[in-house]
Amino acid sequence: MSEKTQLEEQEAIVTFSQNSWDGQRIEGSSAVNALEQGKVLFFPHLAFPLSAQQQRLLDPALVDPKKKNISYSVGNHLIKGVADAAVEPQIRKLLESYYQSCSALISSVLPQYQHVLRKPVNSLRLHPVTVWRNNSSWRKDDSRLHVDAFPFRPNYGERILRIFTNVNPHGEDRVWRVGEPFSELATRMLPKLSSYSPRKSWLLEKIGVTKSLRSHYDHLMLQLHDKMKADGHYQQHGQQLTQRFPTGSTWVCFSDQTPHAAMSGQFMLEQTFLMSVKDMQNPELSPLKTLQRLTRQKLI
Ligand SMILES: [Fe+2]
Repeated sequence: MSEKTQLEEQEAIVTFSQNSWDGQRIEGSSAVNALEQGKVLFFPHLAFPLSAQQQRLLDPALVDPKKKNISYSVGNHLIKGVADAAVEPQIRKLLESYYQSCSALISSVLPQYQHVLRKPVNSLRLHPVTVWRNNSSWRKDDSRLHVDAFPFRPNYGERILRIFTNVNPHGEDRVWRVGEPFSELATRMLPKLSSYSPRKSWLLEKIGVTKSLRSHYDHLMLQLHDKMKADGHYQQHGQQLTQRFPTGSTWVCFSDQTPHAAMSGQFMLEQTFLMSVKDMQNPELSPLKTLQRLTRQKLI
């Protein structure tokens, strides 16, 4: 383990002054390059203003107690997790409008991705981060540094691009820890990951645990997620940076690549897009290609 635990801000965060979702197009490849290197794109002045009526939706009681968040699948207009059907149309409208804003942001900041992002799903996160921490097993505790991996929906290397906006009405920051570059993380963690069993993956699909066959890649990403969260020394001493995201700010990262931990905060909008590795500017920087290089194996 490296002695160095403090990441420098410029190693993990790139800040942009843009203050509107459909602002002037950022020319060149600086944003996409930084993002693909695993950095967080931070827009401290990019707010998503809510109307007085929308402000009233910032109430944790509106989340179905069985769900963590309210989620909206843009493609089929399916909304899940709303406890009170009476407010569902308003929440749907809010999430639809957030999706439109995020799409405009992609066009201006990451125009290279404009036509290749797929499966937009977004969420309204109303609970304080501390609630999940107190009510979760270590595996679900997102206040531990991790990279995102789906246990039930194998994704075969597809990138997970996420946009977040802090809409806290009381001025409370969202606080993250951000970790080291993926290749360094993977190099150190790979020897600790259990080996892939095609037979076990077959079984998991057969009994309906996974929606499709868990690939070698998906196995390694899940292992990485779990081993990172379970490693107390890494959590405390691994390279990291604490970053505060104030109310009225937005940030973007590849959450399958950038180690992140949500430490505190409440009330956030989040937009997810999926993207093929081949559609990146530099596919070699993807977790899939990085893991294939390190293991010298084809993983999907
Ligand atoms: Fe996460």
